[in-house]
Amino acid sequence: MRRRPGPFTLAMSALEPALMIYLDNAATSFPKPEAVYRMLDHYLREVGANPGRSGHRRAVEAERLIGEARRALASLLGVSDPDRIIFGHNATDGLNIALKGFLRPGDHVVTSDLEHNSITRPLTGLEKKGWITVSRIASRAGFIEPAEVRSALGPQTRLVAVTHGSNVFGTIQPIGEIAEVAHAGGARILVDAAQTAGVAPLDIEAMGLDMVAFTGHKSLLGPMGTGGLALLPGVDPEPWREGGTGTDSSNPLHPRNYPAKLEGGTPNAAGIAALAEGARYVARRTPEAVRRHEVSLAALLRELVAGDERFTLHGGGDPSRELGIVSFTVRGYSPNEFAAALDEAYDIAVRPGLHCAPGAHRSLGTWPDGTVRVSTGPFTTEEEIRDAVRAMREIAAAAA
Ligand SMILES: Cc1ncc(COP(=O)(O)O)c(C=O)c1O
Repeated sequence: MRRRPGPFTLAMSALEPALMIYLDNAATSFPKPEAVYRMLDHYLREVGANPGRSGHRRAVEAERLIGEARRALASLLGVSDPDRIIFGHNATDGLNIALKGFLRPGDHVVTSDLEHNSITRPLTGLEKKGWITVSRIASRAGFIEPAEVRSALGPQTRLVAVTHGSNVFGTIQPIGEIAEVAHAGGARILVDAAQTAGVAPLDIEAMGLDMVAFTGHKSLLGPMGTGGLALLPGVDPEPWREGGTGTDSSNPLHPRNYPAKLEGGTPNAAGIAALAEGARYVARRTPEAVRRHEVSLAALLRELVAGDERFTLHGGGDPSRELGIVSFTVRGYSPNEFAAALDEAYDIAVRPGLHCAPGAHRSLGTWPDGTVRVSTGPFTTEEEIRDAVRAMREIAAAAA
């Protein structure tokens, strides 16, 4: 197999996309569908304008593209009113809009130990201020049990805030059942769909998911700096970010109509227009077909290293309930050292460490160093997985 002369530090000029094996799609998907690149170029060169701000033809076209993006996402995610797709920077932004706009002093929130810091940190911050109380339920083998959620609910519980797909184990949570449990206890549900939007079954209205944060740059195949929040009718967080909307400018207060209510300031219009192309690509191929492709390649990697006692696989292993993510550790290496060797000597991109989800590693027993995470994407090939495993074995064999 091809091998770099390394180890050496990559300079920008040394980045050769044609040679690279990119297995870090859970951090951000790469490459994107061609239509995404084309739309970014088209927007930046030919549209250019600030949507909804000026009334000239280019501004109107910019607004139209954003409206199209809302419709594409609403249709993909099962939301009937596109105005209830709120655009922000990413999933983190969507989660903050939801948590800070929905929660009130005295509320109790149920969450889990699987969560990404984009749920854990805002909740802990609100808890430390004494505004809310939080119960963190323990996951089992990467799954949140609906029964555990039920027993954590109390009279003050207004929100259950959980992830749909673990970014460490790749496990897909029984989110419909968790929503039913939350509703039966009088609470709403906030779902972190950063890892699942575009690649797992997500029918927001049919599943009764009150608030769903999504990110544009992972399985929706859009650019970074896109994402946001989808809301069911009747769920009305207060605005967390207030400012210019291009409408009702004489009003000193932020508008109350959707989507402007929860959006403020100039959006990443080029990114949003390109995100729509990513969503259309996914819709054509179907999220379930993409998931099956990604999971089959993750399963191949598992199969190829199974039985090699230098590798320990952590979590996962049920293809019907997971994403294309494999977390492992390697005898004789810290995750950081192993990932650096893959990068520097073979130009293979994976992610080492805690993946911003420290609680998941405490549950898994891989705290504090974390794991090496391989995550496949819609364009990953079997040959790439076989090459990556060969490289992994060569590096593992060189352990002192
Ligand atoms: C489960 C999960 N939640 C939230 C996020 C945050 O996504 P973003 O960085 O796009 O805001 C990530 C990103 O890695 C994630 O994996």
